[in-house]
Amino acid sequence: MLRSSLILDANDALATRIGKQGLSPSDLDAATSSASRAFDALSRRWARGELGFWKLPADASVYEPAIAIGEELAERFENVVVLGIGGSSLGAKAAIAALGDRFRDLLPRAQRQGARVFFPDNSDPATFASLLDALDLGSTCFLAITKSGGTAETLSQLMIVRERLGESRLAQQLVAITDPSSGALRKLAQEQGWRTLPVPPDVGGRFSVLTAVGLVPIAAAGLDAAGLCRGADVMRRRCEAPSLRENPALLLAAVHRAFDARGRNVHVLFSYADALREFGDWFVQLWAESLGKTEEAGPTPVRAVGATDQHSLLQLLMQGPQDKLVSFVAVEEPVADLAIPPAWKERASFDQLAGKSLGGLLDAERRGTTAALAEAGRPSLTLRLPRLDAPTLGELFFLWEAATAFAGALYGVDPFDQPGVEASKRLTKALMSGGSLPGATPEDPAFVLKG
Ligand code: PA5
Repeated sequence: MLRSSLILDANDALATRIGKQGLSPSDLDAATSSASRAFDALSRRWARGELGFWKLPADASVYEPAIAIGEELAERFENVVVLGIGGSSLGAKAAIAALGDRFRDLLPRAQRQGARVFFPDNSDPATFASLLDALDLGSTCFLAITKSGGTAETLSQLMIVRERLGESRLAQQLVAITDPSSGALRKLAQEQGWRTLPVPPDVGGRFSVLTAVGLVPIAAAGLDAAGLCRGADVMRRRCEAPSLRENPALLLAAVHRAFDARGRNVHVLFSYADALREFGDWFVQLWAESLGKTEEAGPTPVRAVGATDQHSLLQLLMQGPQDKLVSFVAVEEPVADLAIPPAWKERASFDQLAGKSLGGLLDAERRGTTAALAEAGRPSLTLRLPRLDAPTLGELFFLWEAATAFAGALYGVDPFDQPGVEASKRLTKALMSGGSLPGATPEDPAFVLKG
């Protein structure tokens, strides 16, 4: 049986290690009792089967058909385009970036498994036009992915694709992934006889990477979608432990909430792997849209990539306002490493690098940065992955989803809704149907600066 390999190290968040900015024994006692209440509330819900995302890693009725269709698309098509946004796009995008070779799209078909998968992920016409112009549409499959079935960005892209392909080719080259019974896309798909896959009604967009929403594109890219589910299931079991000392999601949530209460509400996910850049985008959406619900408290998530952001954000993290908590992600064994060969031995700056590896340099940079923050009395956590493969990535996805659910209970908000986002969708729809924004006051020309 697969064993969990992810390590969460919270030492650098403790006062014993970093001084007064860290959590003291009494802070930890307080965090432990609120975490225990959060655990009780959540565990009752998953025991009653009410937490849709919690069941996914072990639900073959969801993942098997999704993976089978994804694998079929990998065989049949050169390209797959995901028409979807937010939670209907970011999970698969993160997984493909993490597990696929970064430049896989440049390789000829024989050297890469699966289709090239594209995520326009926006309604920016410049991106979408250039993508459609660049692709051979005859060998391209389109995945229309929208849980609600009514998201304007996704539906308008679908309408543009229909015009380019024509109705009968569209029907051959489209899979619609949406709610099983409700929404505009479901209704249309039924009328048109399109191929469809359901998104379980009790799973929201940002928690849906282990449904057809994420698994079809991931399998279409030729990647190990089943391994992702297996890893997530291993983490699910760890996240069902009631103790803060055993349950990494509960600890992650409790530490973030405790620091937020002390004014540290900027939560930085600082991954030391380019492959996790898009995972950071997924985390930002998950954390912000789930927990940003009240004026009193709510985190602002930030994504950073090491070592790149040591040359941009790190100055702010080291000496800026004491309002941040950093979670480092370390990948112990890089997918590939490069030796740094000896050269210019007489120059110290070069000689100290000779004989080391680029992976070793990146790791030293992460360790140096963690230690520098601790030395400056600034808290951090470290998530250590032995390697970046499908099971460990599955663990990481589920860990943050479960942490978000626990954090929702600790912040006293519902992490599964998004009323603010819905309001913006509603107003956009009103504008697109020729209406105007309610209550708009006339502009003050003094504040419109023109050249
Ligand atoms: O997490 C969420 O619920 C949102 O980010 C949605 O995924 C996003 O708004 C897209 O919605 P839909 O999948 O309904 O098109």
